Amino acid sequence: MKDIVLLAIESSCDDTSAAISINDKILANVVAVQQVHEEYGGVVPELASRAHMQHIVPTVDAALKKAGITKDRLDGIAFTAGPGLLGSLMVGVSFAKSMAQGLQIPMVAVNHMEAHVLAHLINDGSPIPPVPFLCLTVSGGHTQLVEVGKDYTLKVIGETKDDAAGEAFDKAARMLDLPYPGGPLVDKYGREGNPHAFTFAQPQMPGYDFSFSGLKTSILYFLQNELKKDPDFRQKHMADLCASIQHTITDILLKKFEKATVGLGLEHVAIAGGVSANSYLREQFKRMAEQLGWQAYIPAFQYCTDNAGMIAIAGYLKYLRGEWADEHTVPSARLKF
Ligand code: KG4
Ligand code: ZN
Repeated sequence: MKDIVLLAIESSCDDTSAAISINDKILANVVAVQQVHEEYGGVVPELASRAHMQHIVPTVDAALKKAGITKDRLDGIAFTAGPGLLGSLMVGVSFAKSMAQGLQIPMVAVNHMEAHVLAHLINDGSPIPPVPFLCLTVSGGHTQLVEVGKDYTLKVIGETKDDAAGEAFDKAARMLDLPYPGGPLVDKYGREGNPHAFTFAQPQMPGYDFSFSGLKTSILYFLQNELKKDPDFRQKHMADLCASIQHTITDILLKKFEKATVGLGLEHVAIAGGVSANSYLREQFKRMAEQLGWQAYIPAFQYCTDNAGMIAIAGYLKYLRGEWADEHTVPSARLKF
């Protein structure tokens, strides 16, 4: 069979990314991070769209150069169609449409959350989970338990009813006076701390759903109380606070993950999404799987946080099925699968 070379574009939130793939292998995966949001403590949608406009051409160019591929070798273009920020998505979709039309090649529209899960199929030498498997996708906007079945059909069996796990990390980090995005910093400081130093509320949810808003309130009240007694409480206990918050979020996630895996009778388990880059979650997830005799799959760091490599692999599967997008395709902020 002929090799399929794709350009993939990801622009759903605050990172502009372009990847080049050949079949299920990624030749280049370039990510331009937007610094502009740091001073606002969160992603500012209009600034994100504008930064995508600035980054998209150089990012695509860098990916082509890194892969050593010229535009005329491309067989198609995959792009993120949602979910995400509409203005950000529109930059990627419009760029993909014009380039595909200029080159007279087909396009495939990819669901960002589906792509986080399918990142596990990238052929980078690491073991690929056989179906059926259960994937916990944890990102800045979503927290989902996804059952992956035959032909990689995906089914959400549980999700958060309020904040996403990444949001819980970022909001907790903000309460600790850490800059945005705080998740990676909670990870960094938490490594030196005691995960059992402080106890926070773990909201109970029925079935396989999650909730993080009670945890957020619990951290807020605890800090307000301690700061009244000692205004330097956060600085003095930063490592223990980060370790304990990280432990609580991980515990909430893994308890449900275990319940769902047992409930469905599965033996292959995976994590995906930005929060799956968290070192404590990765470690605890591996430990849980080992104890229960399950096979655990964790993506390489570069395929955890938002990247176009995952859009390329999801696009490749759709390309093989002939599921094309056309000039009428529009992005959707709340795209489901
Ligand atoms: O998947 P992702 O890159 O973007 C979305 O689709 O939302 O996930 C971003 C989220 C942010 O909330 C960020 O703080 C979190 O992932 N994150 C982390 C770590 N790296 C990224 N959270 C905890 N520990 C990390 N190492
Ligand atoms: Zn994402």
